[in-house]
Amino acid sequence: MADHNAMYREKLKTPEQVAQQVESGWVFGMDAAPTQTEAIMKAVAERIRATDIRDVKVHTMLDAYPFDFYADNSLFGKMSGVSWFSSGGARKAVNGGYADLVPGYYRDFPGVIRRMYDYDAYCVAVSPMDSHGYFSLATTSSYSEAMIAKAKRIFVEVNEKQPRCLCGTQLHVSQVDAIVENTHDMPVLPPVVIDETSRIIGGLIAEQIPDGACIQLGIGAIPDATGMALKTKHDLGIHTEMFTDSMVELLECGAVNNSKKQIHRGKTVTTFAYGSQRIYDYIDDNPAFEILPVDYVNDPNVICQNDNMISINAALEVDLFGQVCAESVGTKHMSGSGGQVDYVRGACQSKGGKSFIAFASTAKGGTISKIKNTLAPGAIVTTSKNDVDYIVTEYGIAHLRGETLSSRARQLIAIAHPDFRDELTFEAKKRGMLV
Ligand code: COA
Repeated sequence: MADHNAMYREKLKTPEQVAQQVESGWVFGMDAAPTQTEAIMKAVAERIRATDIRDVKVHTMLDAYPFDFYADNSLFGKMSGVSWFSSGGARKAVNGGYADLVPGYYRDFPGVIRRMYDYDAYCVAVSPMDSHGYFSLATTSSYSEAMIAKAKRIFVEVNEKQPRCLCGTQLHVSQVDAIVENTHDMPVLPPVVIDETSRIIGGLIAEQIPDGACIQLGIGAIPDATGMALKTKHDLGIHTEMFTDSMVELLECGAVNNSKKQIHRGKTVTTFAYGSQRIYDYIDDNPAFEILPVDYVNDPNVICQNDNMISINAALEVDLFGQVCAESVGTKHMSGSGGQVDYVRGACQSKGGKSFIAFASTAKGGTISKIKNTLAPGAIVTTSKNDVDYIVTEYGIAHLRGETLSSRARQLIAIAHPDFRDELTFEAKKRGMLV
């Protein structure tokens, strides 16, 4: 039997030794958030700054660290980021013209990677090696397996504080080219501040969710507020893209027990987890927790297999057709599509399922209505008028799926902020929408 410990020792390197291997034109790949490798990327950036190495690209998604290749635009051309989501530093770099973006549905990313991309190195932060020689990819499965399949080299950063996910992607020490030890506190997201508007919206959605439903909550204050409003429910299940703090709360208070799910009964299913330390403590060695690849977890044909599937996501604006923009303010990028459409479709195909897109009725201190006659010029349509189901603001709920244009316009105007309803009615009439 191979001696895993000997193999481990043989592959152990410093971040600087790993960075020494990098050549011009290399493409790195990393998966989402807490499995990204901070020390290796720092060492690579330092080496690139000090040499004439050029054209190094790093593919990332939902970044957990302020990486130099997004934060330092003087590196552009030498080391640049390619984001598969565009948030935080990546958002700024994409809008600033010194990083690029791959648009797409999250569920499609593993397939796109397998068909179109090759990586010189895949980098991942892992939990310590187990007695069989395996590293757990801890908090993220997402598109890791696809990147592993398309990578010439695999560099791991072992962090003793990474939780070990029993039912998730694993890497064997024999597959790995270099190991860096870098134990540090897990990256955490700042706690979400739930304001009164989010609380009202969360309460409205919670009224629509029956006991025994299976839920997905997206990013932001409103999905979180909805989670908190579900604490009095019973027998809920979780099948989601991102595992968040409010879900730990629901599991710990007993509102979620996954007992009524049709698939993965008794288990919480996600493709990555990111939030507070409480999340990482919850995942660690937990046999009732599964972190699985996104082409499975976010496949609408999988999502819909759970009855009463309820998805809750945020948006930036919606027009009177019901087209939802969740990615840009005009042409300015704010986010990727993520799994919004995957879950809208999955929930709508599920027996008893519903999909909610929710947001405060106004932005910028009440000066801008998020319900608009037309989307802002250049705005990205995330969820189409054909996929949209329920829209929610603090003024109520509009059901658009299957409804006529006239019904859509009337319902949307009724849940717009009162200050904007006359103007929206005038525009809708002018367009002949209110028949
Ligand atoms: N016009 C102009 N500005 C607007 C606006 C509008 N219609 N709507 C929002 N904004 C501004 C806000 O004022 C805020 O500005 P600030 O940063 O200066 O305060 C900013 O845009 C962000 O708005 P906010 O309402 O706080 O959004 P959020 O941070 O809760 O994120 C999404 C909302 C839509 C970007 C986010 O949910 C997302 O990433 N969605 C797409 C992916 C997805 O749904 N994934 C689901 C599975 S996880």
